[in-house]
Amino acid sequence: MKKVITYGTFDLFHDGHYNILKRAKALGDYLIVGITTEHYDLQRGKLNVVDTLMERIEHVKQSGLADEIIIEDHEEQKQEDIQKMNVDIFAIGSDWCGAFDYLKQYCEVVYLDRTPNISSTQIREGQHPVLQIGIVGTGRIAPRFFAESKYVSGVNARAAYNPHKESSQAFGKQYELEAYYGEFSEFLDRIDAIYIATPHQTHYDYARQALEKKKHVLCEKPLTFTVSEAKELYELAKRQGVVLMEGIKTAYCPGFNQMMNIAKNGIIGEIKDVEACFSRITAPNLREMVDRAYGGAFLEFGSYTLLPIFKLLGCQYENVRFDSILAENGIDLYTKVHFRFKDGLAMSKTGVGVKSEGQLLISGTKGYILAESPWWLTKSFEVRFEDPDRIQRYSPKFLGDGLRYEIADFVSKINGNEKMSYHLTEEESIAMAGVVEEFMKDRTN
Ligand code: CTP
Repeated sequence: MKKVITYGTFDLFHDGHYNILKRAKALGDYLIVGITTEHYDLQRGKLNVVDTLMERIEHVKQSGLADEIIIEDHEEQKQEDIQKMNVDIFAIGSDWCGAFDYLKQYCEVVYLDRTPNISSTQIREGQHPVLQIGIVGTGRIAPRFFAESKYVSGVNARAAYNPHKESSQAFGKQYELEAYYGEFSEFLDRIDAIYIATPHQTHYDYARQALEKKKHVLCEKPLTFTVSEAKELYELAKRQGVVLMEGIKTAYCPGFNQMMNIAKNGIIGEIKDVEACFSRITAPNLREMVDRAYGGAFLEFGSYTLLPIFKLLGCQYENVRFDSILAENGIDLYTKVHFRFKDGLAMSKTGVGVKSEGQLLISGTKGYILAESPWWLTKSFEVRFEDPDRIQRYSPKFLGDGLRYEIADFVSKINGNEKMSYHLTEEESIAMAGVVEEFMKDRTN
């Protein structure tokens, strides 16, 4: 019996997929089809896959061509499968020509002609018009957003807004974007969605104006300074039938989600403590250091540190307490936030003028997870136990500066795929606004 194997994502199953399976099957007597997991697709930079793994498996099954379906979840798997399953022929579309020649040491490698003029990408793009996005604020993060959006299909960063004419025009010219500086509503008329990267205290107002005009909003953290404002924005988005998402990029990164899932699967027992730290010594002339009202460490980095705390211990804490070291102008150079939950404790440490070990430590009744700096990009973490020799190490892939995952989720949600909402729930985002509200009260007292 001649065994043939082929692999793919098989998203939005189309004629090209059917044809390749048919041709692959014709090469032998038994066809094995490997289908990529969501996690693996994200890691290799294939963003915006629409169908779930189960849906994709079902579609391949329905083709009636696969004798066996397996799951592909890491890069080195092909040679393992081929040897383990005694495969005679590896077949793949001609778009991969040459890429799998290294498998020739295990079996015959055949590149089959691709069916012309059809692909999942094309269907995804055809299903929805390309999202025209406008960047509000042209400071430090805006160029990163612009660069990362290029890796996400179905989105075009088209225009930029800054109330200051010179800044807007300079940014527009540099990135070849339409530049707006006058009426915000005129800018909104030109686009479908905005990314807000302005100073913290302006987020709410820009977001509200955009939602009122039925524009989707991706807003940098912190979304608002009060629970009532956060709730109001989420309600408004729902009423207007548009998407509102808070841009805490860590929440959307595959490695961070893998770490959260491992923490919650019981391997370290019940989670009793989460300590998260983010510090960056910041130049004295920057906004974080000089803005007496809205500068400082906690407002700058607190969303990152609160994220794993709420993900792992829930949003219902019993009490919260703040301790800060202040600069002469009143901004917090260093802030510790202590939480008590019904069954656990947590601490967030943020610094702009005090440097500390930027780690995430999740302690449980059977072990702990340690992710070193920069854990918020989650490129590695370890699961450790009482026995110091028992360590599980993870090194998830992390592409670019991570914003692409957030942008991909945003586009995917706008296109009707609500499956991704768990990455950062409305409840978590509102709870974070609650901590910011407490912090601001504490600061003025
Ligand atoms: N394939 C094909 N003809 C097409 C499209 C895909 O023969 N028109 C083949 C690919 O070469 C691969 C398999 O189908 O061997 C699965 O490809 P996959 O990447 O899942 O499909 P694409 O449509 O290429 O997806 P995307 O646009 O997301 O890259």
